[in-house]
Amino acid sequence: MIQSLLTAAALTFAVMLPAPAQPLAATPPMGWNSWNHFEAKIDDKTVREIADAMVSTGMRDAGYIYLNIDDTWEAGRDAQGNILSNSKFPDMKALADYVHGKGLKLGIYSSPGPKTCADYEGSYKHEEQDARTYAAWGVDYLKYDWCSADKVYPHTDMPKIYKQMADALKATGRPIVFSLCQYGIDKVWEWGAASGGNLWRTTGDISDNWKSLETIGFQQNGLEKHAGPGHWNDPDMLEVGNGGMSPTEYRTHLTLWSMLAAPLLAGNDLRNMSPETLGILTNRDVIAIDQDALGKQGYRVAQDGANEVWAKPLQGGEWAIGLFNRGPEAGKVTVHWKDIGLSGKHRVRDLWAHQDRGNQNDQFWYEVPSHGVVLLRVK
Ligand code: GLA
Repeated sequence: MIQSLLTAAALTFAVMLPAPAQPLAATPPMGWNSWNHFEAKIDDKTVREIADAMVSTGMRDAGYIYLNIDDTWEAGRDAQGNILSNSKFPDMKALADYVHGKGLKLGIYSSPGPKTCADYEGSYKHEEQDARTYAAWGVDYLKYDWCSADKVYPHTDMPKIYKQMADALKATGRPIVFSLCQYGIDKVWEWGAASGGNLWRTTGDISDNWKSLETIGFQQNGLEKHAGPGHWNDPDMLEVGNGGMSPTEYRTHLTLWSMLAAPLLAGNDLRNMSPETLGILTNRDVIAIDQDALGKQGYRVAQDGANEVWAKPLQGGEWAIGLFNRGPEAGKVTVHWKDIGLSGKHRVRDLWAHQDRGNQNDQFWYEVPSHGVVLLRVK
């Protein structure tokens, strides 16, 4: 009797305990950002249409949740110093409500400097006030872009300045993902998490061509030890579907970013995308590599000229293996299990062909197109 009463009391207590809190950005943030396609041509109407498209295309259900407004939404300040949105965004709170009504989250953008990169109003000397305004609007994500902060702070102040905004966001009580954007200066990966960053850009801006994608993507090797649940390296947003690369190259883009456990922020016009673009962005097997709960960033395990093999440890002892061909001709890319620390036979599945490839012995190869990839999941 006493035993069962005690058990009941223990159960009641257990039920009353709050669930262990998931850190913000427990897996790399997924969503969409206005900059790559729209730059300054973004407004309330377009954001609402993108929100609609995120739902109707299935992007939201594939995991793309954050709808992030980048630079050019800002006006000046009112007499009390509150930041105002400009005429393109007549009512941020109403827009946030609309976005939330679609089961999405809203992101916004600012700078620690007096001006943003596109010369709009920044948060300099208004950090706490701006954080409170964002929270009152219902903002869920802030990208904080260094730019003109160079005019008022030395680089050595960066950790402190980013921490100031992280603390201001925390003080609002609203969970707001904090994205550091300072292009990788001073090895941000070594201090970004301590400054409260959930992600930090590791490079300059991406553009919609193979050279840019290749340079940025493959140079992430070596940064893997700095990424993990709640704090990610950010090699910049996706260009998939923006028209400057081939479908093969865009598949490599999504694959490499997933191997890197990078944030997946689509940057194309979701209102008008081809079935092929949508198919690339919503390949759930590939997204599952990016979003794997272990939260490990992949790394290069072998290189032979233009051919590279990358590996990413997954939960449950599984692996993702990327066979990349950076060269101008199709060619064979060979995998040796020993390079990954494996031996014997392992079952593999091709995540772009959606086909099981059976058991592979300790050495095997695939034909990979120029600028292409074969992505395998190894059991
Ligand atoms: C910088 C950032 C970009 C974008 C623009 C906006 O260049 O790196 O991602 O936010 O500013 O002005």
